[in-house]
Amino acid sequence: MAIFVRTKYAMRDGMRVSTKREANDLLTEVDLAVQEEIVARIRTAFPEDQIFAEENGLHELPANRDGRTWLIDPIDGTQNFVRGLFPAFGVSLGFAVNGKPVAGGVAVPGKGELFLAEKGGGAFRNGERIVVSDVDAMGSARAEIDFSGPWDREEILQKFSPLMVAIGQVRCHCAAVIGLCSIATADMDAYVHVALNPYDYAAAMIIVEEAGGLVTRLDGSPIHVFDGGRGVLASNRLLHDALIDVIV
Ligand code: IPD
Ligand code: CA
Ligand code: CA
Repeated sequence: MAIFVRTKYAMRDGMRVSTKREANDLLTEVDLAVQEEIVARIRTAFPEDQIFAEENGLHELPANRDGRTWLIDPIDGTQNFVRGLFPAFGVSLGFAVNGKPVAGGVAVPGKGELFLAEKGGGAFRNGERIVVSDVDAMGSARAEIDFSGPWDREEILQKFSPLMVAIGQVRCHCAAVIGLCSIATADMDAYVHVALNPYDYAAAMIIVEEAGGLVTRLDGSPIHVFDGGRGVLASNRLLHDALIDVIV
């Protein structure tokens, strides 16, 4: 799968791209092909399980919100994938029970990286254990404020302006899985978004948690992936309370 995505990336000038809700909300043939392949494998191995995925009409809420559910984002960071911001895109597959991610995998084909985590078993990058940072002061912390698309910008400005002033460094990959996994590897200390979908963060959420971090709604309340909430705050845990204090 990762090799397929890398190959398509290398040939992206000829790639078929269409738009979804707005002109810069993109869909490529690769999103569809990757999702189709993952869905086919899940349906063969776990025919009873529910699937919640970004493309092809699979984003209806599952009938049983607490049931065994696979969450797929075939390419997260599609803008980067299409326009060549390498390697900030990933393939994301999470598995949730009772609304809590219990296993997740994120492949980052552009870096040859595979992140894996399972509840209680730790988080790994290419087989090596990863752990969050020990940065505990806002002034020396590095956060991703995910700027998303224009449809989210007013809310982002309103909620995160004080954070932008308070935090030591600001980054934006605009690929949720990259921002979140960067906390698990201690390259970043926090990540915020006003409106993620469950397939954007389910896999990376368990990866961050198993690396020692914390992932909640923006007010610090726990996440059930199908609770209808949108905001996501992830951190190395040490900074979590301070981050909640500056989010409006
Ligand atoms: C997007 C990315 C981005 C976030 C957007 C998402 P996509 O997913 O996760 O970081 O800001 O809100 O839609 O469209 O590249 O799969
Ligand atoms: Ca996404
Ligand atoms: Ca996507």
